[in-house]
Amino acid sequence: MAAASGSVFAFLGPLEACFALIGTLIVISFVICTLYFLGKNIYVFFFAERLGHTVDFKNLGEWAVVTGATDGIGKGYALDLARRGCNIILISRSEEKLRNVAKEIASKYNVRTRIVVADFSSDETIYDKIKSDLEGLEIGTLINNVGVGAPYPEYFHRMVGGDQTALNMIRVNCVAQTLMTRIILPQMVARKKGVIVHLSSGAGSAPVPMLAEYSATKAFNDFLGRALQQEYEDQGIISQVIMPYVVATNMSGMKKTNLFILESESYARSCLNSVGFLPRTNGHPSHCIQNWLGSMIPYFLRARLMRSMMEKWRDMSIAKLKKKGEYKGE
Ligand SMILES: NC(=O)c1ccc[n+]([C@@H]2O[C@H](COP(=O)([O-])OP(=O)(O)OC[C@H]3O[C@@H](n4cnc5c(N)ncnc54)[C@H](OP(=O)(O)O)[C@@H]3O)[C@@H](O)[C@H]2O)c1
Repeated sequence: MAAASGSVFAFLGPLEACFALIGTLIVISFVICTLYFLGKNIYVFFFAERLGHTVDFKNLGEWAVVTGATDGIGKGYALDLARRGCNIILISRSEEKLRNVAKEIASKYNVRTRIVVADFSSDETIYDKIKSDLEGLEIGTLINNVGVGAPYPEYFHRMVGGDQTALNMIRVNCVAQTLMTRIILPQMVARKKGVIVHLSSGAGSAPVPMLAEYSATKAFNDFLGRALQQEYEDQGIISQVIMPYVVATNMSGMKKTNLFILESESYARSCLNSVGFLPRTNGHPSHCIQNWLGSMIPYFLRARLMRSMMEKWRDMSIAKLKKKGEYKGE
C-alpha cells in the first residue's frame, strides 16, 4: 500500500503530491470517524443493555425527576426509570393525569412516586413551590423533558395564539430547563454524581422555517446541555442532549408508529441506554439514520425542502380547522 502510494506520488509534482496526501488523509480520517461512529452507536443501542453496561440510575440517587411526565416521551422516561429501580417524581400541570401515571408506575414496579403539580407556562414563582416540594430528596436523575410547540407550522407574524404562545414557548422550553437544572444541580455537584437529560429536537440542529421559535428554543436546549456537559463532566455529572425526530405523541399529532415514527416508551428506553456513551444523540438508530441522511443535504436545499413541507402541513391543518369551523386565523 505504502509502496503503491509512493509510486503514485512519484509521478506528481510536489504540490500535486501534497494535495494527494491531504486528500488521502481526509478520506482515511472520514472512514475512521464513520466506522467509530457506527461501531459506537451499534454497541450502545443494540448491546449495552444486554451486556449490563448501561448507567445504574438507581445508584446515582434515590429519586429521578421527570418534567412533562404524564404523556409522550416524558411518561416513557418515567416508566423506564421506574423499571430500572428509581423512585419517580412526576411534574406536569394536570393533577388527575399525574395521579394516573403514578398509579400505573406503582402497579408495574416496586418503587415510590411523588407528584408535583406545576404549570411551566406561568411565571417564575412556581419554582419556589417546586424547590420546596423537592427539599430533602436525594435526586440522581433529572429529565428536562417538558416542551411545547405551536399547534401547526405558521409564518412567525401569524403564529397561532400570538404573543402568549410565543412567551409560553420560551417559558416552557427554555426557562423550565434552566431553572429546574439550577434547582437540582447543586446536590449532584455535592455528591459528585448525577445525570441531567435535555430534550431538544431534530428541529434544534438546524433552523426550521415556519417553526422558527420552536426550532430556536430547541437549539437553546442543545447549547445548554452541551455546555453543561463540558462544564461538569470532570465532577461526575453527565449532561446529555436528546434530539428526537418524530415520536408518536400528542405534540407530534402522530398516532401510528412505523420504522421512523417511534413509540414513546421504547424511544425513552433507547435514550436511557445511551446515557454516558453519547452526549448528544437522536436517541434511537432510526432517528440517527434520519439525521445522518438529512445532514448529507446542504442546508440551503434542506431549508427549501422543509419550508415547502411545512407550508403543506400548515395548509392541511388550516383546511381541517376550517372544515370544523374552528379556524380563527382570518
Ligand atoms: N414528539 C415528538 O415527535 C418530538 C420530537 C422532537 C422533540 N420532542 C421534544 O420532546 C419533549 C416531549 O414531547 P412530547 O411529544 O412527549 O410531548 P407531549 O406528548 O405533548 O407531552 C407533553 C407533556 O408535558 C406536559 N406539559 C405540557 N405543557 C405543560 C406546562 N405548561 N407545564 C407543565 N407540564 C406541561 C404534559 O402534561 P399536562 O398536559 O398534564 O401538563 C405532558 O405530560 C418536548 O420537549 C419536545 O419538544 C418531541
